[in-house]
Amino acid sequence: MISLMVNGSRRSVPAEPETPLLYVLRNDLALNGAKFGCGLAQCGACIVLVDGRAVRSCVTPISALGESEITTIEGLGTIDKPHPLQQAFIDEQAVQCGYCINGMIMVAKELLDHNPRPTEADVREGLAANLCRCGTHGRIIRAVLRAAQSTGKPRP
Ligand code: FES
Ligand code: FES
Repeated sequence: MISLMVNGSRRSVPAEPETPLLYVLRNDLALNGAKFGCGLAQCGACIVLVDGRAVRSCVTPISALGESEITTIEGLGTIDKPHPLQQAFIDEQAVQCGYCINGMIMVAKELLDHNPRPTEADVREGLAANLCRCGTHGRIIRAVLRAAQSTGKPRP
């Protein structure tokens, strides 16, 4: 058994140490927010936060996690009380198929935690390594900027 801290709860899973975190989240813990896109650290659909840092869970063995705190999209908000980033993505209608979106939101969470008042260029750079095959990048960027405005102080 491997013990993990996920969304504030300790979970034990019967998995081999080299098992990718993504498989454990989806197959053992029924946390399906992180998606399997490429499985090769190329697309960002599987991103979760590990101690606040965006990590590609498809290539992260659970043995590497130790006591780290793992946060998935399920740990951000609820349907009744969405996280400001989730609300901003809804308000900007930034989703087409939706496959990339949870990874985008998790990367944006890391970005805003470190830079609460990003410029558009900051957001573009921060999300540059996340792929969206539907091409909804413009709305995604607007959503992240909207979330920053709703939570942070205005730029001087
Ligand atoms: S599924 Fe992990 S980066 Fe694509
Ligand atoms: S909304 Fe479809 S891949 Fe991004």
